[in-house]
Amino acid sequence: MTVLITGGAGYIGSITTRLIRASGRGVVVLDTLENGHRKAVGDAPFVQGDIADSDLIARVVAEHGVDEVVHFAAYKAVGESMSNPGKYFNNNVTGSQKLFEALHQAGVTRVVFSSTAAVYGTPQSVPVRETDALSCESVYAETKLMIEKTLGWYSQTTDMRNVCLRYFNAAGASDDSTLGEDWRFSQNLIPHVMKAVLGFAPALTVFGNDFPTPDGTGVRDYIHVEDLARAHVAALDYLAKGGHSITCNVGTGHGTSVMDIIATTERVTGKKVPYEIAGRRAGDPSECYADPRRINETFGWSPTRSLDDIISSAYAWHTSHPHGHDS
Ligand code: WQD
Repeated sequence: MTVLITGGAGYIGSITTRLIRASGRGVVVLDTLENGHRKAVGDAPFVQGDIADSDLIARVVAEHGVDEVVHFAAYKAVGESMSNPGKYFNNNVTGSQKLFEALHQAGVTRVVFSSTAAVYGTPQSVPVRETDALSCESVYAETKLMIEKTLGWYSQTTDMRNVCLRYFNAAGASDDSTLGEDWRFSQNLIPHVMKAVLGFAPALTVFGNDFPTPDGTGVRDYIHVEDLARAHVAALDYLAKGGHSITCNVGTGHGTSVMDIIATTERVTGKKVPYEIAGRRAGDPSECYADPRRINETFGWSPTRSLDDIISSAYAWHTSHPHGHDS
């Protein structure tokens, strides 16, 4: 079995690629390297190209004997998606549709899709369940939901089956500190905390401490990227055994506040995290964390890493790779 991994040169894609290979499957990574890093692919078979290139997809499927796909490739900057919607709809939605049609024409029927908890927007209640209301508050989130729906129709009208994984907050780095998030482009909390604690930024800006939460700061569900990778392998196994199409939240089921992250970072690293309180960031919900029962029960998957593991792995990665894969 060979898995086509689109976007496999990215943060989550590269760590998942490594685990898929360790599970005994062959892989071929497709990435434009626009945001990904060639180094992150290592010695995995690699093709530089675009998911929208239907002829290329047909060639890669034929030459590598592809029979499964994990689809990560997408633009994912929420803010940019609101200032350049066309870039996001064209690349994420149209590109994915061309990919799925090329796969269908080539007889590939199993797809695991990298979706996001952002499709829930500001959740009406927590923990969030897959059956809860969907309320996309950004073009980025809307593109992910449109791709989910496209896969749903392929599932209804063809022999294609899919698993859509709605990630909560992916964080941390590979266990061996050789793969991780490129903090030069990320707006997420953990890379920003690491910049502050390692002296690459004067202080962390805490976006609001007046939320209706225990300590007033935003609460999220931080899932270790190695656990997230394991969820993709479990999804491939599920489809290979004939599993029907399904959408699953991927999270720990626990809420963690910004101040919790700061305190954990100070304890794990032994260093102070300089921070300053600022106003809330537009669109930030107070709380968003998963009800992970569906993935627990369907795949037998549950997280194995702790918040300490997230922080210590991120710290080790950013300490050894201050310039990402260009370090
Ligand atoms: C987490 C918490 C912030 C930065 C985003 C995307 C979502 C998904 C996950 C792709 C919030 C606070 C953050 C900082 C802070 N990505 N914060 N200072 O917004 O929950 O979700 O990443 O699928 O689509 O929207 O993650 O890490 O930006 O914020 O105080 O410098 O940390 O207010 O409470 P978010 P985040």
